[in-house]
Amino acid sequence: MSQAIEIEKRRTFGIISHPDAGKTTLTEKLLLFGGAIQVAGAVKSNKIKKTATSDFMEIEKQRGISVATSVMTFEYRDKLINILDTPGHKDFAEDTYRTLTAVDSVIMVVDSVKGVEEQTRRLMEVCAMRKTPVIVFINKLDREGRDPFDLLDEIEKELKIRVRPLSLPINRGSLFKGVYNLHKKYLNLFKPSTTKIADELLQITDINDAELDKQVGEKDAAQLREDAETVEIVYDNFDVNEYLKGNLAPVFFGSAVNNFGVQELLDTFVEIAPAPRGRETDIRFVQPDEKKMTGFIFKIHANLDPKHRDRIAFMRIVSGKFERHTYYHHVRLNKNFRFSTPVTFMAQSKNIVDVAYPGDVVGLYDTGNFKIGDVLTEGENFQIKGIPSFSPEIFKELINTDPMKSKQLEKGITQLTDEGVAQLFTQQPGNRKFVGTVGELQFEVIQYRLQHEYGASCRFQPISMTRACWLRSNNPQKLEDFVRFKSANIVQDKDGHTVYLAPSDWFLKMERDNNPDIEFHFDSEFKTEVV
Ligand code: G4P
Repeated sequence: MSQAIEIEKRRTFGIISHPDAGKTTLTEKLLLFGGAIQVAGAVKSNKIKKTATSDFMEIEKQRGISVATSVMTFEYRDKLINILDTPGHKDFAEDTYRTLTAVDSVIMVVDSVKGVEEQTRRLMEVCAMRKTPVIVFINKLDREGRDPFDLLDEIEKELKIRVRPLSLPINRGSLFKGVYNLHKKYLNLFKPSTTKIADELLQITDINDAELDKQVGEKDAAQLREDAETVEIVYDNFDVNEYLKGNLAPVFFGSAVNNFGVQELLDTFVEIAPAPRGRETDIRFVQPDEKKMTGFIFKIHANLDPKHRDRIAFMRIVSGKFERHTYYHHVRLNKNFRFSTPVTFMAQSKNIVDVAYPGDVVGLYDTGNFKIGDVLTEGENFQIKGIPSFSPEIFKELINTDPMKSKQLEKGITQLTDEGVAQLFTQQPGNRKFVGTVGELQFEVIQYRLQHEYGASCRFQPISMTRACWLRSNNPQKLEDFVRFKSANIVQDKDGHTVYLAPSDWFLKMERDNNPDIEFHFDSEFKTEVV
């Protein structure tokens, strides 16, 4: 098969949601529809239950599970679908942000009872930054949820994206009758079942057809007609190009646990979701159909066996054809590497892969040569854009509690932060190390792993910093002065960028006001300027 056909076949996406909205359930149902798994329950939730914050066995177990379910591939119709899993736990949000760099589109699950939640909001910000196309699935219609139009309004307002419902629910909760697909003009009657595969679709091309009243009752049929009219008046027609540009999100309603509305979602997804896209680099745009291979690392996962410190680096192929046993150029290290056992992931098993195409994700066994954002090419030197570090939310100083093991600690913290578990900032002079995360759990994970994998012991001392700002200025002298005056708050990130750690938003505002020549950014690619 030609490279162009292979590319066109692939759809690589992620499912995102606030924890508990139904991401795991939906993932599983999609795999079920795709025939990748035979029974429900095969995909374990990779979220760490709230009670398990200090249960390290649980953390280890969860890490194992999320390796197995990091990428799930299945065929549906004539498409090869790669679902990239994103951790549900909020403390691993950074991991999710990075995984989103490797997808071409997302499905966002919203709980119809709870509406837009904190995590949904943040994930959407990341999608908006990259203009990632989004399909929204409003889940749990079998529960007494909120009014659908209220939910649509909330999504538009809170997530700052235009929406267009492609289906409408008929009643909800215990009276939920099903959905009417406005686009394809069929009625999907709700029959709760966790095992059925196909939905029963009833073609009703005219919404005024009396058949609709017969199926759902006069009252609900009348309401549906009114709602459909509202949609026609209030919302623009669905324009697939606007969706592809990330400006408009089509919305579906369903109940993932009951396999309801999932097929409709999947059918539309394969119809409209984008094929693998290229990526911007610091020197040029890389197109997927280029002959030469380009790939980038977006996730690194430690293997489970602490005796072997090898890891799996997940590489998204951007262009060309990746081949086993072939040398590729590691841009950052300026060295060539070849891989004898690259793997792909099929639901729960890993398989050695001989070739992979744009949109695919391959797992590369690594002994410490990779960090997030690294690029492999066939010789060209560039950096993929759009894999920034974002400001962590919690900062602590790393204190070595066993001076005999300084080397191990240094190596351990460097490798763990290469994996993206947390961010490391260093302050000179003095070589003080500050670790930044988005959740408390990360510190426990780091301490535990440093001890068990590197034999180093440490403690974390709270510091009063709340924000990291990457600094830039067109006036080098002003920047230099600022760095000198504020040396207590100035650190370097792992790539050597100058970062200001702000004690509070108030301080940050003051520094900004006092230093108009300096730009303060919440990300290392200088995209989100503090305003
Ligand atoms: P997450 O990955 O987004 O965190 O959510 P997950 O799929 O684990 O779903 C969270 C809970 O919501 C689960 O219940 C799941 O069964 C339930 N759920 C998912 N879809 C629907 C739906 O359409 N309707 C209803 N009523 N519930 C739904 P749980 O009790 O936390 O777990 P479990 O014991 O059922 O697995």
